[in-house]
Amino acid sequence: MSSTTPITKAVIPAAGMGTRFLPATKAMPKEMLPVVDEPAIQYVVAEAADAGLDDILMITGQNKRAMEDHFDRAPALEATLRDKGDTKKLDAVQYATGLGDIHYVRQGQALGLGHAVLCGKQHVGNEPFAVLLGDDLIDARDTLLTTMLETQQRLGGSVIAVMEVPEENVSAYGVVDAGGQDKEPGAEVVPVHRLVEKPPVEEAPSNLAIIGRYVLHPAIFDELERTPPGKGGEIQLTDALQAMAAKPVEDGGGVHAVVFRGRRYDTGDKLSYIKAVVTLAVDREDLGPDLRTWLKEFASGL
Ligand code: UTP
Repeated sequence: MSSTTPITKAVIPAAGMGTRFLPATKAMPKEMLPVVDEPAIQYVVAEAADAGLDDILMITGQNKRAMEDHFDRAPALEATLRDKGDTKKLDAVQYATGLGDIHYVRQGQALGLGHAVLCGKQHVGNEPFAVLLGDDLIDARDTLLTTMLETQQRLGGSVIAVMEVPEENVSAYGVVDAGGQDKEPGAEVVPVHRLVEKPPVEEAPSNLAIIGRYVLHPAIFDELERTPPGKGGEIQLTDALQAMAAKPVEDGGGVHAVVFRGRRYDTGDKLSYIKAVVTLAVDREDLGPDLRTWLKEFASGL
């Protein structure tokens, strides 16, 4: 069942406790950790804006202040930079405020990603919407989200993004059983039959791991309300999607996966975060040349 109403809303869950990054995340959300010189969440908000999603709902937790301040105007700082004639820094500071219409809702308790998405029910209403995880970055040169939005509009139901990961890593992700006869010819869009959250390696249906981008049918909200705590005692979005996969498309059911083969940077754990910062810095005109030279010297001494 295709739809022609454009999708305009994005939900960005950023209320997790970020325990893998303690103590840095004791008083600050992990989504505010700098990736080169921008907080991780700014890349995610910019990605949503680039895909035409200008109504952004952030799900925040205890430490929401830093995120609200970051996306708000900073009159005193802006005046100082203006007085100094530092237009480059002024533009950089103002960039975050112009990215869209950003709203906040608080998830009182970190009860899981599914619960965080459910907190967006009232704001989203009865229309398909995107979910972007605030600690998962997709390179701006890749157009994953746009492909996912088009796929949802064409096929209805919900759309997830998956990536091939080494088999030994599957237990860190939701994993899907996808594809088969009804696979679209030559396309990187496959129907999803089963989704399992963080399975043991020997029980994983494949090595296709769910990554942090979703375009969901609003029927997911009723499903999330019925979803009991799953893996880790948390209300899992993967479990609600498993139920949606079994439903007919006229009830908002059906799940398709876009197989992503582009550049993704996970900033949620320490090693991946360090790799993300280095990879993105090496590509920057202002830092890349010096950093490359230094990295070669550094690596030769290891
Ligand atoms: P993660 O499982 O990666 O986040 O959730 P976490 O729980 O903060 O991480 P660790 O394992 O303790 O280090 C994926 C995304 O979902 C959000 C997180 O903020 C992150 O962006 N999330 C997770 C919520 O908003 N609420 C939750 O209850 C759980």
